[in-house]
Amino acid sequence: MSITQRPPIPSFVPESAPFSPEQRTWLDGLFAGMISLDESVTALSDEQAAKLMPGMLAGGAPAEQDDGAPWHDPAMPLPDRMKLADGKPLSRRLMAAMAQQDCGQCGYNCKDYADALFVKKEERLNLCVPGGKDTARMLKNLYAETGVTALAVNANPAKTDAPVSAPGRSRDNPVLATFLSRYRLNKKGSEKETWHTEFDLSECGLDYVVGDSFGIYPANDPALVDAIIAALGAPPDFPIGGRTLRAVLTDGVSLSPAPDMLFQFISYLTGGDRKKKAKALADGHDPDGDAATLDVLAALHKFPGIRPDPEAFIEALDVLQPRVYSISSSLKLNPGRVSLTVDAVRYDVKERTRLGVASTFLGGRIEPGDKIRVYVQKAQHFALPADPNKPIIMIGPGTGLAPFRAFLQERQAIQAPGPNWLYFGHQRSDFDFFYEDELKEMRTSGLLTRLTLVWSRDGKEKIYVQNRMRDDGRDLWDWLSRGAHVYVCGDALRMAKDVERALIDVVAEHGKRSPEDAARYVADLKKNDRYQADVY
Ligand SMILES: Cc1cc2nc3c(=O)[nH]c(=O)nc-3n(C[C@H](O)[C@H](O)[C@H](O)COP(=O)(O)OP(=O)(O)OC[C@H]3O[C@@H](n4cnc5c(N)ncnc54)[C@H](O)[C@@H]3O)c2cc1C
Ligand SMILES: NC(=O)c1ccc[n+]([C@@H]2O[C@H](COP(=O)([O-])OP(=O)(O)OC[C@H]3O[C@@H](n4cnc5c(N)ncnc54)[C@H](OP(=O)(O)O)[C@@H]3O)[C@@H](O)[C@H]2O)c1
Repeated sequence: MSITQRPPIPSFVPESAPFSPEQRTWLDGLFAGMISLDESVTALSDEQAAKLMPGMLAGGAPAEQDDGAPWHDPAMPLPDRMKLADGKPLSRRLMAAMAQQDCGQCGYNCKDYADALFVKKEERLNLCVPGGKDTARMLKNLYAETGVTALAVNANPAKTDAPVSAPGRSRDNPVLATFLSRYRLNKKGSEKETWHTEFDLSECGLDYVVGDSFGIYPANDPALVDAIIAALGAPPDFPIGGRTLRAVLTDGVSLSPAPDMLFQFISYLTGGDRKKKAKALADGHDPDGDAATLDVLAALHKFPGIRPDPEAFIEALDVLQPRVYSISSSLKLNPGRVSLTVDAVRYDVKERTRLGVASTFLGGRIEPGDKIRVYVQKAQHFALPADPNKPIIMIGPGTGLAPFRAFLQERQAIQAPGPNWLYFGHQRSDFDFFYEDELKEMRTSGLLTRLTLVWSRDGKEKIYVQNRMRDDGRDLWDWLSRGAHVYVCGDALRMAKDVERALIDVVAEHGKRSPEDAARYVADLKKNDRYQADVY
């Protein structure tokens, strides 16, 4: 048996850098791992090392030992998050640039995505769907700031060194599922357009547990694809990598928003003021005050007549990302099937209606019998309590109801004796009472111990789930005292924060605690997985 001799780890950290021997060994090991992926870097300068690990230069502990991440708040704007991370090691600043939703759409949680980028296990900078262009741009800047060429990244390559998962278990290894049906959950007159959609999993054999999410690879709207082809002045069947321009525009690239690379590319094809403008947009400036509204088509219309090479144009676009949706069914009641509850995103910018790519794909363009690429995204810390006797309180306004329908189906199927309390809220009782018959039936059967409905636009004043939680404070505290698990799902930006605030207030008032102790009580609930969130 031959033993492979490992070469000694070379020293990348300059002798003059003020590290202890342990720190030097740790850093050398880290950089050796990173640099083995790219031969173009041989050593780091003092300055580069300082930029990568400022905490270490100050004599601090390695980043891995620092668990505090005060920026880990999805409601905090990006500049504030970056300010909090200022002066921290690069891996921490990379994390602060993420949208902080731990939504898993990138295939990681926020910290793990940042760490994977840092050690170069992952090279795609554009995976944070909720962070969008701002996050991608900040990640690029953070790399540029280090000056370490080994870390230079292209926004597009689908390159990752992550191990390939089992089929259908990650975004990198999807399987085919058959779309079965959809029906609209709002009645005529609603301002919302929300769809119950169903897929057949029997052919692909995929399974899931309640709390998991379902990832789907969407296709762009054909009318938008046609408009882009017309603006390019290119033949739709122009060959690109064995496919046609139309096919690549349909399911290969994101058509919204226009990435910096596209403006960079346009700047090469233009001159004078137009060039300056395109360059400014590529650099993140907003010369005409319209940058936030520029999707790919609007960018082409802003710089008419550029006639780019179609292949180079496609190269300048971002890859189309999958989207994930909370699963709203239990396999135990629906063998071989999965359902989703999808709010179709449509909004107008000037004379054109913009479409959320995946939600309108599910809510309109996909037809029964169509097969699409899907995967199950395992929930991290979003699951029913192992003990079926535990009471649960579920707070899910709007599409936030989705995973709780699944929880209730599951508890029905296993005949869990634990009490179930659901808060559902939406705009109007007449139009937006999703799954009304089912929920009423669950209430009648006793499966739903309490059903609290909150209609924000039925009365003169807005009222939200958190208002009713405050009204119900005494009973909520009683349920908490009996060991209830609390769940919240839906809008991350405001609702989830407001609900948490309400819960803290309830604990303070009815648990007779100071505001600080009440906040600690809720923090402990979180630590013990008794307060779980699935927000987006
Ligand atoms: C864990 C998880 C679970 C989720 N579960 C669900 C679920 O159960 N149901 C559900 O419906 N969604 C759910 N989502 C959200 C879902 O993944 C998508 O983000 C959502 O459907 C929008 O995707 P899209 O492709 O249709 O829109 P995109 O093409 O991504 O467009 C959305 C973007 O359009 C812009 N936009 C939207 N509205 C406006 C406006 N009025 N004005 C200007 N700009 C606007 C915003 O920039 C927004 O980010 C979940 C997300 C996560 C992370
Ligand atoms: N970009 C935005 O501004 C925005 C806002 C909300 C949701 N979203 C996103 O839109 C998608 C789908 O939304 P949805 O269909 O699930 O419904 P939704 O738009 O989140 O609305 C569901 C219910 O929640 C209410 N609500 C609004 N703000 C709230 C708050 N701070 N606290 C508690 N409740 C609040 C709404 O009331 P009113 O509508 O009457 O205020 C409505 O009754 C999600 O992805 C969500 O994140 C985006």
